[in-house]
Amino acid sequence: MRHLIDTRTLTRDEALLILDTAEDMAATQQREVKKLPTLRGKSVVNLFFEDSTRTRISFEAAAKRLSADVINFSAKGSSVSKGESLKDTAQTLQAIGADGVIIRHPASGAAARLASSGWIDAGVLNAGDGTHEHPTQALLDAFTIRRRLHGEGSRGKGLDGVSVVIVGDIAHSRVARSNLWLLNALGARVSFVAPETLLPFGVRSWPVAIHHSLDTALREEQPDVVMMLRIQSERMHAAYFPNDREYARNWGLDDRRFEGLSDDTLVMHPGPMNRGLEISSRAADSSQSTVLEQVTHGVSVRMAALYLLLSGERIES
Ligand code: CP
Repeated sequence: MRHLIDTRTLTRDEALLILDTAEDMAATQQREVKKLPTLRGKSVVNLFFEDSTRTRISFEAAAKRLSADVINFSAKGSSVSKGESLKDTAQTLQAIGADGVIIRHPASGAAARLASSGWIDAGVLNAGDGTHEHPTQALLDAFTIRRRLHGEGSRGKGLDGVSVVIVGDIAHSRVARSNLWLLNALGARVSFVAPETLLPFGVRSWPVAIHHSLDTALREEQPDVVMMLRIQSERMHAAYFPNDREYARNWGLDDRRFEGLSDDTLVMHPGPMNRGLEISSRAADSSQSTVLEQVTHGVSVRMAALYLLLSGERIES
C-alpha cells in the first residue's frame, strides 16, 4: 500500500490488515514506554487546509509514537493565503524531504490529486477531502465497533451481520461515505437516515438502505450501532431545510430515542458534536457512547496506517 486515499477501493483483506495492525499498535500503547523506533529518521507533514482538532492531533501523536519527525502546516498563516497553489506547496514539502504527507482539504479529490500528481514522492494519507472521504475516521470507527462487539485483540474478524444506522447530514459527510464503503467490505449492513434535502445525489445506487424517519429506522433496522453525524453548516450555501428545531425533533438522538434503544446498542459520533441538535448530552455521555474511545483508538489506527505506508515492515505486539 503506497497511499491511503479512500475506503471505497480497500479490499476486506486490506481493511483487516490495517485493523489488525492497529491492534498490534494498541498493545504497544499499554506498555510503560509507548514510543516505537519504527519511523525514526522519517518526516511526516500534517498539511491542513481546513480546521481540525481530533484528526490533526491524533496523526501527530501517532507519528511521534513511531518516532517520526512531525511538521505541522496550517493553511491559515501560510503562503496559501497569498495565493500559493497546492502544487507549489507540495513541491516545497518535497524540497524539505517529507516521507509522508497527511492532507485535509476542502476540495473533494485533493488527496488523490496529490498522490497521483508526481509533485512529491511521499506517501499520501487523506485526512478528509471535501465531501468525498475520511478513511482513517471510518477505520477507527470500525476498530471501535469491532472491539466493543468482539473484544480486545479480535484480530481477523470482520463485522459480518452488524447493523449500523448512520443519521444526519449525509449529503456533506465524508465520514458517512467512508463508513459505508468500509462497513460493506467488512460485512456489515448499513442504513442512512436523513431528510431528502440532506441526502447526496445518486445515493439510491449505493449499497445502503435509506430511511427518512429516524423512529422507523430504529424500529425496523434494530441497530447494533447508531452513528450520529454533525450538521455541517459551513458547507451549506443557503439556509437548509429543515431548520435546527425541526432537525432536532425529527432526526436528533434525544433522550426519548436514546432511552428506546437496546442497552447494548452503541452510540457513535465522529465529533465535533452539536449537543442538543444531533445528539443529547445524556446519549453522548452514556456508557453506550464510544465518542472518546473513538478518539483513543484513532491514534492506534493512524499509527497502523503510517507504519504500513511508510515502513513496509510488520511488527509483533
Ligand atoms: N472527526 C474529525 O474529523 O474531527 P476533526 O474535524 O476535529 O478532525
